[in-house]
Amino acid sequence: MRQQYRFCSPRKILRPVLPVLLFALSFSLLAPPQTFGQNPAAVSLKTFHPNLELSDPAIEARVEELINKMTIEEKVGQLVQYSAGQPTGPGTGRTDYADMLAKGEIGGLFNIVTAKETNAFQHIAVERSRLHIPILFGLDVIHGFRTEFPIPLGISATWDPQLAERAARVAAREASATGIRWTFSPMLDLSRDPRWGRVAEGEGEDPFLVSAFARAFVRGYQGRRLNSAESILACAKHYVGYGAAEAGRDYNSTEISEHTLREYYLPPFRAAVDVGVGSIMSAFNSLNGVPASANAFTLKKILRQEWGFQGIVDSDWTSVGELMNHGIATDGATAARKAFQGGVDMDMVSSLYHDHLAHLVRLGAVSEADLNEDVRHVLRVKFALGLFENPYVDERKESLAMLLPEAVALSRDVAEHSFVLLKNDLLSKGSPLLPLSDDVKSVALIGPLADDANQMLGSWGALGNGRDVTTLHSALVKRLGDSRVHFAKGSEISTATDAQIKAAVDAAKNSEVAILALGENGPEMTGEAASRTHLDLPGRQEQLLEAVAATGKPVILIVFSGRPLILPWAVEHVPSILAAWFPGIQAGPALVRTLFGETSPTGKLSMTWPRSVGQIPIYYNALNTGRPTVQNDATPFPNGHDEKFVSRYLDESNLPQFPFGFGLTYTTLRYGATELNKSDLRIDWLKEGLTNTSSSAPTPLQASANITNTGSRAATETVQLYVRIEGTSVSEPVRSLRGFQQITIAPGETKRVVFSVQSEAFAFWNDQNVFGVEPARVTIWVAPDSASGTPAQVEIRNKAN
Ligand code: NOJ
Repeated sequence: MRQQYRFCSPRKILRPVLPVLLFALSFSLLAPPQTFGQNPAAVSLKTFHPNLELSDPAIEARVEELINKMTIEEKVGQLVQYSAGQPTGPGTGRTDYADMLAKGEIGGLFNIVTAKETNAFQHIAVERSRLHIPILFGLDVIHGFRTEFPIPLGISATWDPQLAERAARVAAREASATGIRWTFSPMLDLSRDPRWGRVAEGEGEDPFLVSAFARAFVRGYQGRRLNSAESILACAKHYVGYGAAEAGRDYNSTEISEHTLREYYLPPFRAAVDVGVGSIMSAFNSLNGVPASANAFTLKKILRQEWGFQGIVDSDWTSVGELMNHGIATDGATAARKAFQGGVDMDMVSSLYHDHLAHLVRLGAVSEADLNEDVRHVLRVKFALGLFENPYVDERKESLAMLLPEAVALSRDVAEHSFVLLKNDLLSKGSPLLPLSDDVKSVALIGPLADDANQMLGSWGALGNGRDVTTLHSALVKRLGDSRVHFAKGSEISTATDAQIKAAVDAAKNSEVAILALGENGPEMTGEAASRTHLDLPGRQEQLLEAVAATGKPVILIVFSGRPLILPWAVEHVPSILAAWFPGIQAGPALVRTLFGETSPTGKLSMTWPRSVGQIPIYYNALNTGRPTVQNDATPFPNGHDEKFVSRYLDESNLPQFPFGFGLTYTTLRYGATELNKSDLRIDWLKEGLTNTSSSAPTPLQASANITNTGSRAATETVQLYVRIEGTSVSEPVRSLRGFQQITIAPGETKRVVFSVQSEAFAFWNDQNVFGVEPARVTIWVAPDSASGTPAQVEIRNKAN
């Protein structure tokens, strides 16, 4: 068994002392704790100090000493941040950074990517400013720095948070060698809408899974101690609700009830805070009419008061200035005041804190005590990172930190685990097309993504360089030799000529099998400001695919995308389909090893793939509605009242193309029935479980199933645990993920998988927005994905029968 994700009791957050100890442990020299699967929803209203380093009395004393020496302008300076390199948004704020640094008017700079430049700016801040306060340098290190890994959506398809943690650690080592000590990652925006381009940057649609990755990324970036020279501050973003942008259009407004916010959108952020994330980025969107970057309910009440967050709240790029566009301010001073009073510490790029905050303090429109508090958040982090002691980096060592062999090997490993085999039909000979045999006589390699190195980096490539990428084409040629690979691009991503398509068809005709590498433009069609309303293959790629398939040659389709795509024709006609996302620098080797069966696909979808755009938003953990359809699997015209007046489409199935959690491998697996060791659970025991601090507290329930490998290859399978809770004060989803385990099973072998189901699995936010358990009927599945498995039931009762 590779690893097991278990629930942890929320006791660590219900007693003030234990969380501190647990957090200390997580930074001790012991092996990293295995708590990725703890219930993200397990929260309390109690305040606690989630990050020991950010509440260290020695640091607090230094912070106070410094604040006492600061002028109002110097305090405001700590809250001012500009981009001093390649812009990642509109406008740049200012350009006179050297001058401002010398006056102590800047707290952080970002988008600078060389040690020489960070050192140069740092020398000015540390040596020429009155109080010698170092600058905090940031960058969007999203899925690697120089060693690029798969995009986050791909990383989440591994369902292996330990891989994410290791990848984040590599990114931290490389970025910190350049003087960058702050990454604007992980993006924890739960997303149910693949039209939104930023789903590429996140970990999908499920709060439990996103939370597991939230912990992993934060641990990887921040390491065991923030003041290690190789640690960088993580930033959980975009707080909060940004992923619910209406109609999937980036930056659009969101309407999310408090219940939905607490049950689905907040838990990943809470998980990040629980493991000590040092910063949070406030989002662009308005949330229920109040912009997220001036939202005291989410930033102050929930984040600071309920969760006890001690770190920095950074605005997103010009989101303070955008309060004017949102219409809650008609001038810059009011925008600055509202963001400040709403809970934003640092103003990224808009320069309005710089322009107005000191004056607002002098006017008495905002209090100096509040200013001191925001400055505390920033200085605390700078001290915790050890910047005062070690403000500079050794420029001679910078290049030595990049692309270490073990980092490159890890990139390949993560890529291999991220691929999701969506389809692998048996051909007429009775066996599937994949894996390919090394005896294959010739392969036609077709498509705009087959040999485009830069595309493999997806969006937010940081310092990723096409020169470091091995493409599918070069890896395939290396394996089979030039003469057996017939390469024809066939199409650009968005355009194609008839001649290109014809050349590809000819290549297929002359080959035994065709591999098509099709999909989106990673840097341009995915990520920020990359919403799409048509989720098909761009340009003439569909035409190319159909023309190649018409040759009758067996076709393998590799889909490169930053989101679920809608590919009905391919799903019906192409025998083998692999979702490859944007795999990073080792795209080619990882794909070739997978295609030839040196490794088997293990990835599972972290986002539902729809059948048509009209189904969106579509997600597995939906509510049942009062009129659920029973004709989910077809679209016959409604026949009679019972079929008509139900929640369904007239022209499309309710079912997704591929459900959340889905992914095939090169063998077949049989899941036995879900078995529970009890039929009743006493509610007082469950309540006790939510608060009990003893690690010897009994497990309320065990859920298990036998899983048999019925094929001829070994498999690594992610076994998933789902629950449905009925009879409660609020409607709960038709299924909610509550655990997962990865197991390896030899051909012919049967393994029994047992989940220890803790109290939190049965808890939810009730109709009073209080987290707890209620008497209920609970259905449980141990399943390969969110749409299969056999159900078993247990009752939560006030008293045992
Ligand atoms: C805007 C994006 O929304 C955010 O994710 C990013 O970190 C900042 N720009 C800085 O580049």
